[in-house]
Order: sequence, then C-alpha cells, then structure tokens
Amino acid sequence: METKQKTTEREQWGSKTGFLLAAAGSAVGLGNLWKFPYMAGKNGGGVFVFVYIAILVTIGFTLMAGELTLGRYTQLNALGAYRKISKKLTWVGAMGVLTAFLILSYYSVIGGWVINYIIKSVTGAISISDTETLGNMFGTMISNPIQPILYHAVFMIITLVIVFGGIGDGIEKASKIMMPALFIMIIALAIRSVTLPGASAGLEFFLKPDFSKLSIGLVLDALGQVFFSLSLGMGIIITYGSYLPKNENIPQSAVFIPVVDTAVALLAGFAILPAVFALGFEPSAGPGLMFVTLPAVFAKMPFGSLFALLFFVLVLLAALTSSISLLEVCVSYVVDEWKWSRKKTTMVLALAIFLIGVPTSLSFGPWADIKIFGKNFFDLYDFITSNVFLPLGGLMSCITIGWVWGTDNAIKEATSNGKVKFALAKVWCFLIKWVAPVAIGIVFYRSIF
Ligand code: PFF
Repeated sequence: METKQKTTEREQWGSKTGFLLAAAGSAVGLGNLWKFPYMAGKNGGGVFVFVYIAILVTIGFTLMAGELTLGRYTQLNALGAYRKISKKLTWVGAMGVLTAFLILSYYSVIGGWVINYIIKSVTGAISISDTETLGNMFGTMISNPIQPILYHAVFMIITLVIVFGGIGDGIEKASKIMMPALFIMIIALAIRSVTLPGASAGLEFFLKPDFSKLSIGLVLDALGQVFFSLSLGMGIIITYGSYLPKNENIPQSAVFIPVVDTAVALLAGFAILPAVFALGFEPSAGPGLMFVTLPAVFAKMPFGSLFALLFFVLVLLAALTSSISLLEVCVSYVVDEWKWSRKKTTMVLALAIFLIGVPTSLSFGPWADIKIFGKNFFDLYDFITSNVFLPLGGLMSCITIGWVWGTDNAIKEATSNGKVKFALAKVWCFLIKWVAPVAIGIVFYRSIF
C-alpha cells in the first residue's frame, strides 16, 4: 500500500511496510541480539524472561501505542511534542534527546566490535571451536586502547551517512532489506544451538523460571531492557510516529512492533544460551557473551565461517537500523528547534557522540579501573540510560498521555477519529493511567532509593 501523502511539509513514510519495518528496525538491534541474552544470563535465565514478558505485556504495548499516538498528533520531534502538550513538560523531551545521545555513544562502540568481528570472519580468525581461545581473542580486541575506537568511528560514520539520506531514502530503504534477512538467519542459528549435544541444560536455564532469584534489581533490569529494546521512553517512537500519515492504524502497529522485537530477542536467547551450556561457557559472562559463544557455534556448523560472516553482517545491519533511529531523534530535535541544516546537524552531532563514546571503549581496557559511583564508564552510561533515564522517561510519558493530554484525546487520535478499530481501548486507558505509571514508579523508587 503505497500512500505517499504530502499533507504537511513534514516528510512522511513512503509506505506502511516501510514505516513498520523502520520502527521494528529501530526496536530490533543490539538490544535484542547482544544485550537480552547476556542480561538473561546474568539474571538467572528463565525468571528474567518471565519478568521481561510480564512487563512487555502490561507496559511495553501500552507505551508503544501511547508514544506513536502522541507523535502523530503533534507531528513534532520529541521535545516539541511534549512542549505542545504542556510547556512544563519540555524537559521530558529534552531528557529523551539526551538519552538517545548517550545511548548511541556506547551503542556505537559495541557496533564497532561487530565490524571487527565481520573482518575476523572474513580472515577466518574466529573459525575455531576452542572456547578459551575465543574468550582471550575477544578480551584482547576490546581492551586494545586504539583499535576499538577506530571501529567505533567507522560505525558512527556509516550511521551518519544513512541519516544524511533522510527518512524515505535512507532509513526506510535500508530497513526493508535488512529485517527479513536477519529474521531468517537468527532462526537458523537458534535451531543449530538448541540441537547441540548438551544444549538441554541451557534450554532449561532459559525457559524454567527460578523465582528464588527474583529481586528488585532484576525487575529494574528487565524494565530498563523492555524500554531499551522497544526504543521507548526517549522519544524515538514519538519521532517516528510524527512521520505517520493520519490514516495509519496505530493500534495494529503498536502490537506488531513489540511482537517482532520480542520474537527476535527470544530467538537470540535460543541461539546463544543453549550453546553457552553446551560449550562450557559461563551464562553470566556479560557483554562478551554473544562474541565468544556464537563463533564456537559456527565452528560446529557446516559452512560455519560463511554463516559467521553472514550473521555478523546482519547484526551490523540491525545495529544500524537502531543507531540511525537514535541519531535521528537528536537530529530531528536540532533541525526543528535550532533551525540548523540537516547536513551540518548530522555531522556535528555524530562527532560529539563519537567523542562521548570514547571513554566507554577505553573502560574495557586502559581505563578499566577508573570508577565513578563504583562503575566504569560503560556500566555507568548503561545504568544512567537504561535504569534511570528510560524508566523516568517512560513514567513521564504515561503521565503526559494518560493525565495531561488525556486518554479521550489520545483515543481520538489513535483511532483516527473513530475510523480505526481499537478493541482494547478501555484496557489501554486503564493501563496507561494507572498500571504502567504506578508499576514503573514503585520499581524505580525501590531500586534507586
Ligand atoms: N532498541 C534498539 C535495540 O534494542 O538495540 C536500540 C535502542 C534504540 C535502544 C532506542 C534504546 C533506545 F532508546
């Protein structure tokens, strides 16, 4: 359904599938493939997955619908959108832009690691099944003071070039090709991993919740991860919603995007965690989990090195569809508010984000011992964004949509003035006014104070 509508001057998505794929592309990224499996591994497996899904169903869907609706109604960037609802809420949008800025700075460092692993796949350096060698190789790569920073720069440059292209030409086209390819690939990997001898312990770990591991820290981690993974709580979905044509079916999109996102996260869990157990790795190994486990899985597959190359290319593409959305939030704000040209904005911001990201790269090597509030730079950026800014942004977006703007207005917009069906409208109102803000508030308060 090609609906190129130019009702306003604002650029719009070229087609419905283009928008859905780009929004799902923003959601699906390193958060699903790299972060979800290691967060689950670190937090006891099944119990984390259980809490994650509980939060997704109650809060994830609710906010996805809410933010898309707010974006389309205001037709503005994150900051403008909040300001249009109330001047007093402008700071929420500003915090969202800042969050995107900070997330991208370390996201790009991990994206750089992926580029490094693409090269390692081409040269055959990772075609080994010895787990210790793989672990050491990963450690050597990330702790180098210079090399990962160069790859971080390459990742930022690629992101910048795509964002230069604007919405239709850059983001939309790229997503249409990358997303389906990634999906097929990750299914193949999951099948290989769960059929490895010894995989059943990993399956049990991933699927069987052990509720004795439940803690408030775990719930906050899961909450942060839902926001991170769905790109919620920081204005990305508001910004993408602002490019939506007025006749688009928002309730449907709000279901489609989280479902795809969660499917990919779970598949990544199936691809990585059974293999972790089968090959004798530690599930709680942290950020390196994907990089040390998967090469060993590939080594045990026919045409393994070819698959490894294909996989890391797809991870890079998934990371890029997310990183362009992170940069787009910042660019959209500066272009709308400061009236800078798109080209200049993109260049200046990309450079700033690159520089801010450098300490996180160094925190895996020479700066490992520099601690602020007991955390190295990577852990600090991750904690501030995922566990503080995103939940706070999410809480404020519930309050903004549910109470300040009001659910009646929101429903009117979400259903295109009654033209689109929204079967669960009443449930949604209750969730966004009461359940989501109260739940986020309690978890946030208990874990911070
Ligand atoms: N959602 C993306 C991922 O899971 O990789 C990346 C991302 C986008 C993270 C937007 C956070 C965010 F706010």
